[in-house]
Amino acid sequence: MRELNAVVLGAGGVGKSALTVRFIRDVFVENYDPTIEEEYHRIVELDGESYSLEILDTAGAEQFKALNESYIKCGRGFILVFSLAQEATLREVDSLRQQIYRVKGENSNVPIVVVGTKMDLPNEREVQQSTIEELSARWGLRFYETSAKRNWNVKEAFEDLVRQMRDR
Ligand code: GTP
Ligand code: MG
Repeated sequence: MRELNAVVLGAGGVGKSALTVRFIRDVFVENYDPTIEEEYHRIVELDGESYSLEILDTAGAEQFKALNESYIKCGRGFILVFSLAQEATLREVDSLRQQIYRVKGENSNVPIVVVGTKMDLPNEREVQQSTIEELSARWGLRFYETSAKRNWNVKEAFEDLVRQMRDR
């Protein structure tokens, strides 16, 4: 079976762990327990093939930022996570995106998907659809609006990344 590895990066509290745990175990983690580093594994069935997927869930907290460089070196694909309810968290996605291209090379065609979380909180929403469309076009990356709580679009985002990793 082909082995793939992905790294989940983004600002603190945006929902990286909730997203990952929803995908791995199909449950919603309601309480906020800041991550240091957590590794998950799942067999993913896609288009009639099985893939062994390792997912590294990282810390968003500022004091762990120095680790991102080595995560990026070791990672094959990346899920960059921001919160739809906190526009400022998009800036961290932009800076991670740039760091990935610096480490991997501008023309590396590195597999990346961008995930906006907490879609189930429309009253707290700060990031408009138009912003997402503009950034998606400018960066040449696909965005997924998701909810780990409601299990909206979680599988789709991970499967997109697996397809990109498979095809490169
Ligand atoms: P760090 O590990 O500190 O970097 O944070 P994180 O990005 O892993 O955030 P985490 O997944 O722990 O989620 C933070 C809080 O947001 C938790 O209380 C989650 O329950 C909540 N949360 C995450 N995703 C969603 C979502 O889709 N909807 C709602 N309503 N809450 C969410
Ligand atoms: Mg976490």
